[in-house]
Amino acid sequence: MSISQLEARLQELEQHALLLEPDASHRFPMQQAVERYAQHFLEALPEAPAFVPRSETHDSLAPFAIPEQPKPIAETLQVLQHQVDTPGINSASGGHLGYIPGGGLYYAGLGDYLAAVANKYAGIFYSAPGAVKMENLLLRWMAETIGFPAEAAGNLTSGGSIASLIALATARDAKQITSRLVPEAVVYLTSHTHHCLNKALRIAGLGECPIRLVPMDDRYRMQPQALRAVIEQDKAAGLTPWLLVASAGTTDVGAVDPLPELAAVAQQHQLWFHVDAAYGGFFALAPSGKEILRGIEQADSVVMDPHKGLFIPYGSGAVLIKDREQLAKTHYYSANYMQDALAADQEYSPADLSPELSKHFRGLRLWLPLQLHGVAAFRSALEEKLLLAQYAYAKLQELTGFETPAAPALSVVIFRYLPAAGADANAFNQRLVQAVQQDGRVFLSSTKLGDDFMLRFAILSFRTHKATIDLALEILQEKVRELQTQR
Ligand SMILES: Cc1ncc(COP(=O)(O)O)c(C=O)c1O
Repeated sequence: MSISQLEARLQELEQHALLLEPDASHRFPMQQAVERYAQHFLEALPEAPAFVPRSETHDSLAPFAIPEQPKPIAETLQVLQHQVDTPGINSASGGHLGYIPGGGLYYAGLGDYLAAVANKYAGIFYSAPGAVKMENLLLRWMAETIGFPAEAAGNLTSGGSIASLIALATARDAKQITSRLVPEAVVYLTSHTHHCLNKALRIAGLGECPIRLVPMDDRYRMQPQALRAVIEQDKAAGLTPWLLVASAGTTDVGAVDPLPELAAVAQQHQLWFHVDAAYGGFFALAPSGKEILRGIEQADSVVMDPHKGLFIPYGSGAVLIKDREQLAKTHYYSANYMQDALAADQEYSPADLSPELSKHFRGLRLWLPLQLHGVAAFRSALEEKLLLAQYAYAKLQELTGFETPAAPALSVVIFRYLPAAGADANAFNQRLVQAVQQDGRVFLSSTKLGDDFMLRFAILSFRTHKATIDLALEILQEKVRELQTQR
């Protein structure tokens, strides 16, 4: 190609590529259409179902097909509405009481929008000093919230699973668990520890560590005495006790392990003490939550998820490590092409403290709602969730036929219905949860305690209030009646 041919072709391509840069007259209508869609979604939310079973119309991939030429916004928003926002759990609904509900604060959405428009390169201080400072400040604020020292460091991750991976990789290197030592390095957890910890161990090359499931008490909390005993046994057998994983809010029942006692055992035996507070950690902001989480400040590492307890949309976890040098030792790396960034070392960069290099500027979706709402509103919402759990527990105890095996420590309430003697309780409760899900006004999920099939209220959406719990209790009684007449 001659230079003049090249120039002509470049001009042609530039003209076409300019489609990717809509001007204000194109941007505004698009933005208004999107905003209308969002407002309609939010206005309809109080009456919208919490669960819509998938139907055949949702099974085709065709509506998602990638076009060669532009499509109108109205058509694309229709796909979003029918194929994405309708089927499955409506995680924005206050009626979502299953699993661990996420948040979805509107101002977090605005933060994401602004982060995407400016597209700051938030992994490196040199390229985005303000973004990195904002994220580090958020992490310092979280550290302060749980009583960690100012020197602690951390990372805003995509969620609790990646945050746990960062914590365990750091714990591995801090305690010098080289591959030769892995089969002797013992990990202590309970059968209610979240499975992302087992996954993290495997991914971090620690899958061959012996794992001890420490017995729990009648409120599903790790028993410190039992932990002591099993550590002594392991030491006597020539093994190396390495890692203690406590939970500050288990997924199954919301239990908080006895953190001060476990911290003492960890200290005595020089274990790395990790606390999984992915679900429970932000209750430290609530007046009564602080006391429930007492002892968390003694951990070496903590995971707490803003997309759970801070009501941020999915995609926001956090890990905090007391010894920032250890965190950096495990994750720091450099490359020749990044030499310009080396001089800008006033702040640790996220890229120094996590597996990621390029990353979403996650800080803005947290910082903006905290600025615009103020922390006090979060404290009230979290205190409200704790009290709603107490309320649901008390109400369930009043209802004939329902069994509530453990009082809620945080905001998960576990229960089941006991049908007449001789009836299969597990089969009944399985049908009960399915009936509630099919009804759709609220969404509940189930779990097992030993061999017993159990239902749960997981109360964490900022949109869940007393009326939601009253409705859920009404629906449960209605479905019990219906199931009993079907027998
Ligand atoms: C206690 C606990 N830890 C860890 C996780 C994993 O977090 P994520 O789903 O954000 O990866 C969860 C998820 O529900 C959880 O409840």
